[in-house]
Amino acid sequence: MRLTTDPRVAAEALARGDLAGLPTETVYGLGARADQARAIARIYAAKGRPADHPLIVHIAQASNLDSWGLRVPAYARELIAELWPGPLTIVVDRSPRAHDFVTGGQPSVALRVSAHPLMAEVLDHLGALGGDPSIGIAAPSANRFGRVSPTTAAHVISELADFMTDDDVVLDGGECAVGVESTIVDCTGELPRLLRQGAVTADDITRITGLAVGAGSSIRASGTLDSHYSPAADVQLIEREQLTELLGDHPRERRSATGLLAMAHVSTPAGIVRLAAPQTSDDYAQCLYAALREADALELDTVLAIAPEPSGIGAAVIDRLTRAAHRA
Ligand code: TXA
Ligand code: MG
Repeated sequence: MRLTTDPRVAAEALARGDLAGLPTETVYGLGARADQARAIARIYAAKGRPADHPLIVHIAQASNLDSWGLRVPAYARELIAELWPGPLTIVVDRSPRAHDFVTGGQPSVALRVSAHPLMAEVLDHLGALGGDPSIGIAAPSANRFGRVSPTTAAHVISELADFMTDDDVVLDGGECAVGVESTIVDCTGELPRLLRQGAVTADDITRITGLAVGAGSSIRASGTLDSHYSPAADVQLIEREQLTELLGDHPRERRSATGLLAMAHVSTPAGIVRLAAPQTSDDYAQCLYAALREADALELDTVLAIAPEPSGIGAAVIDRLTRAAHRA
């Protein structure tokens, strides 16, 4: 595996049919050409992901949408006009171009235009190499199935190096600005439905489209499993008032194996490890996954997490913490 900062090197790897770890503004993805069954099969193997879980296809710009999707409703066009490039994925009926090996056999396809400049450059180069500007890159988050998504190139390497060949590439685009995965909106029905929370909120969708937003879906989505985004440490989502009480039960010597994840205004009780002290909900989202990884690097057994306010991206942070804390 080769680490690079040159988007051309990543585009060339993809063009050959190799894999590339790719930065986006949300989290890093593990990408392959969306038209190459063999490369996509390697993504599933590297992630250890069930074959019927569909992937997101990343495209260069909104004008490529109709090459991948059919019957795109007006409200979906309103959303992407305002929010692409950005942390929004839409699910629409698929065109024949979106094969079963990308959609997990679903009749729909998930599409996204990332705002990360390097991702845009990779798509441009790849399109030029193949003479096809509407080419897609299928890329799920670059983590093993069920684990924490990567927000740096180093995270991608620590997750997946064992599953990459010498010809695969990881493109270093720095720390992800958003830190949690894109909002996914099912646009196959009359009304939008929120499949996964992210930086784009249900209120944003209503403001832009004037429509009520439904929740849930029968479609398989890994990020909607009860248990997901889990570090090895035991995550407990607690109220601020529970902190002292809980630590009262902790023998002093065990405190050093306990981490705290909470907004900066919550002070750190003596002896426990402060994993992050974000000032805002946006900061909380941005540092969340790195903090959970840090807990594992420090071999902590417990992470006590106090949620941010549920407004804005705070709802997505609470969603991820709830799944990280879920025990099967
Ligand atoms: O921010 C993100 O979206 C990142 C970056 C790399 O783009 N990608 C990401 O991919 O989170 P992944 O595969 O980890 O999560 C994609 C989610 C999955 O839960 C998948 O099941 C859902 O999208 N999905 C994909 N295609 C779908 C479809 N046709 N219908 C419903 N859900 C779909
Ligand atoms: Mg994922």
